[in-house]
Amino acid sequence: MKNAKSLIVGNWKMNGLRQDIDQILAIGASLKENPIDGEVVICPPATLTALAVDAVTNLPVKIGGQDCHAAKAGAYTGDISAEKWKDIGAKYVIVGHSERRESYSEDNISVRSKAKAVLDAGLIPIICIGESLSERDSGETLSVLTKQVRECVPEEAKKGSIAIGYEPVWAIGSGKTPSVDDISEAHSLIRHVLTEEIGDRSKVTPIIYGGSMKPSNASEILAIDGVDGGLVGGASLKAEDFLSIIRAS
Ligand code: G3P
Repeated sequence: MKNAKSLIVGNWKMNGLRQDIDQILAIGASLKENPIDGEVVICPPATLTALAVDAVTNLPVKIGGQDCHAAKAGAYTGDISAEKWKDIGAKYVIVGHSERRESYSEDNISVRSKAKAVLDAGLIPIICIGESLSERDSGETLSVLTKQVRECVPEEAKKGSIAIGYEPVWAIGSGKTPSVDDISEAHSLIRHVLTEEIGDRSKVTPIIYGGSMKPSNASEILAIDGVDGGLVGGASLKAEDFLSIIRAS
């Protein structure tokens, strides 16, 4: 089985207005002119997702949703199911982001249900995991990551495609990043546990790094053995910054 493809994901979080679709168009136009060997995905806020899908018709950029409900449909005010993301043309859905784990008390079990729902809808879940600062300081990073992979990756991933986003919580939006050795160790552990969980499909599963990735550190991080791409927050909002990260991959 071949190795995982390169995957660069921009997570806009709760940022962006209609006018910012222009940033997506600029990214798509640049990639059309100078293609890369890999996949580029942008996950704008829900208000922009359908517009973004229309904007990237004929451009080499995929659009993803941020989070989903585990049910297909029903009386869940304010929620969006994986089926609904599929209906508007999204291809990926971010689940288990630490901001949702923290603000909405999402645990590994609910993340697993959401990832399953995304796979059932025929989309690709980007399953986020990562240790907090206190877990890191107490030397628990590898055991936390092991538990998160075991509990968040659903059985269905043995057949469908997933991606894992390794985001140390303390690195998100902080300007701090782990050392090259630490990132390498984390990714290698994640791949190992993933292989125990889903077998050979782990080889084609992109394991991407997130947390303060920016144009100035992207080449170094993306060159680390076992890092298949990036999950980029703040630096994905402007086409110029995001493109220089994409070009570093
Ligand atoms: O999902 C991406 C993310 O949490 C990283 O955010 O702003 O540190 O790149 P940022």
